[in-house]
Amino acid sequence: MKNIIFHLNDNGPKYKQIYERLKSFIEQGDLKTNEPLPSIRQLADSLNVSRNTTLMAYELLVAEGYIRGESRKGYFVNELEPLLYQETHNPSDYHEQTKPVQPFCIDFRADVVDQQHFPLKTWRRLSNQVLTVKDCFRYGDPFGELCLREQIAGYLFQSRGVKTDPNAIVIGSSTQQMLIYLGHILKDEFQSIIVEDPGFDGAREAFQFHRFMFETLPVYETGAELSHLDQMKSRLIYVTPSHQSPMGVSMTIQQRHMLIHWVNKMRGYILEDDYDSEYRYTQKPFPALASIDSTRVIYLGNFSKSFLPGIRLSYMVLPKPLLDRYKHQFRLFESTTSILNQLTMAKFMKNGEWIRHLKRMRLVYKRKMQHLVTVLNKEFEQNISIIGEQSGLFLLVKVHLNRSEEWLIESACAYGVKVYPTSRYFVKNYPEKPMIKLGFSHLSFDDIQLGVELLKKAWL
Ligand SMILES: Cc1ncc(COP(=O)(O)O)c(C=O)c1O
Repeated sequence: MKNIIFHLNDNGPKYKQIYERLKSFIEQGDLKTNEPLPSIRQLADSLNVSRNTTLMAYELLVAEGYIRGESRKGYFVNELEPLLYQETHNPSDYHEQTKPVQPFCIDFRADVVDQQHFPLKTWRRLSNQVLTVKDCFRYGDPFGELCLREQIAGYLFQSRGVKTDPNAIVIGSSTQQMLIYLGHILKDEFQSIIVEDPGFDGAREAFQFHRFMFETLPVYETGAELSHLDQMKSRLIYVTPSHQSPMGVSMTIQQRHMLIHWVNKMRGYILEDDYDSEYRYTQKPFPALASIDSTRVIYLGNFSKSFLPGIRLSYMVLPKPLLDRYKHQFRLFESTTSILNQLTMAKFMKNGEWIRHLKRMRLVYKRKMQHLVTVLNKEFEQNISIIGEQSGLFLLVKVHLNRSEEWLIESACAYGVKVYPTSRYFVKNYPEKPMIKLGFSHLSFDDIQLGVELLKKAWL
């Protein structure tokens, strides 16, 4: 068994330096697949560190899949996954390398959907059918294909209580794209907008594009502080009432009525982002704000969470005065989204596949969410509290340790687990304890279990 020796310096923990060195030996091929590594004791002796230090380095490498331990034989180098290898060391990659790519064992990202239950066969069949139709070989309607707008109108009425004419629906490629277009027709009449704090930073970016000024509505684990509206000057508000992003709370019926009352009094508009209302696990989704009174509500929906983010298909329902302005302003703009996807989605909805898909996915995600909550509670007990587990494709973990968000993320990363910050969502209403965002939609039950166990090692 070959011994390894290298220099350790005083910059940072020794176990991390050993881990980094061995990782780079493996990635660069200096240590070959299946090659035995020195024992914990041998390596500790030759580097003049404690056995605990080498053990921690080996544990990290095992967690990230670089090496494996075989009982009574020792540690061996694993075959590196080609994807990870290419990402870090593709010799033909002459693009400037910014940050080294960290190979993650478990990634709790929230911007993906479950691949295993995706209706691939049906979607393929329907999109093949669409490709044989003459209609598919043209630019689409600038405001979206009528057949899809009709299906969306039917769905909104059935599932969200929103009654709309298909002609009041505009189809676009993403929520941000639509907010940017919408901002263009709102900016002359409205110079400022109220946003939730914390709230979806992607929407703030879109409003900033038109230099809207912000007023912020504080949101807590218990919900939004709507009483603050009375002191505000803006007449526009952007909200996520069904599943507040990122706090996960839903507005109560009373709060919804309050908001509608406020907007009518102010003669402004509510931008209701209903981005993932389909996934509510404990009870039926509340009806949308636009179902109470749509006169001053701009309803925004998308297929990113409910179906596939890469499909780039979103829509909004515009009140009459805005609709006329929008259609006039953008009459010469081509559609921003694929006609092929629009026609396929229209067929998918018409055949009943859409509702079937939602029912199936609600169950799949509900089970994953329950599993994540159970494992988190078991591993962390009173060291964390869980926020927003009743709906959506992520939850927040409020960590009651005396640690910063940055520390929590970096420590998780050292154990091969990628978790996500929430600080980017806050404007000024910062929480006392850091909150970490965990998505689970693409993870298996085993991944969730392993990810939480590694997090426990990293954090406790
Ligand atoms: C609050 C909110 N709205 C909308 C979206 C969807 O954005 P898009 O339409 O670009 O997929 C997201 C995505 O994460 C979101 O968090």
